[in-house]
Amino acid sequence: MNRITFVSAGLGLVGLLSLTAVGEAQHEQGHPMIKEGAPTDSRQDDRVALGLSQEAEAGMKLTMREHLEALQAIVAGLGRQEFEQAAKVAHEELGFPKHHQAMQREGVATFPLKYHELAMAHHQEAESLAKVLPSKDLKTILPQLERTIGVCVSCHRAYKL
Ligand code: HEC
Repeated sequence: MNRITFVSAGLGLVGLLSLTAVGEAQHEQGHPMIKEGAPTDSRQDDRVALGLSQEAEAGMKLTMREHLEALQAIVAGLGRQEFEQAAKVAHEELGFPKHHQAMQREGVATFPLKYHELAMAHHQEAESLAKVLPSKDLKTILPQLERTIGVCVSCHRAYKL
């Protein structure tokens, strides 16, 4: 599909050139498209599947969406210079209290050890964020916010449902 769009765009572009030139352009530009779809592609999905029950999965997704909302609330707090409010969200919505709620929602589900470690690291970074937020010092806060988001990214790169 992509390739067809690409080729027809190419045809429009080189419409003034001879047919031979068109053929060559297609030939040369065709290669990167083929390469992109190859199995050795960097987008290959080698994440580990957690294989949760439907119920645990629904609970986890809810927690995850709340995580994203918490990040939004924290950034909004920074924008409004409401540092204490942002700290409260970091602690309650991303820190250790959230872990207990997440576990309740996921029931008896078992997770790989590495997954559990990433979950703990994520809560720990959020607690550190909650601690530095009241300093109002963006030079300290922003790198800690980045580390907090960094654990979200690390886990998403390693695991899927
Ligand atoms: C310990 C692992 C882990 C951590 C930490 C983690 N996530 Fe996730 N999250 C997952 C997994 C696994 C999925 C499912 C991804 C998939 O199947 O493609 C997911 C899915 C999501 C989704 C999609 C929810 C849906 O309804 O489909 C969002 C949004 C999300 N995470 C946000 C976050 C944010 C924001 C953070 C950090 C504040 C975070 N997550 C931290 C493991 C994690």
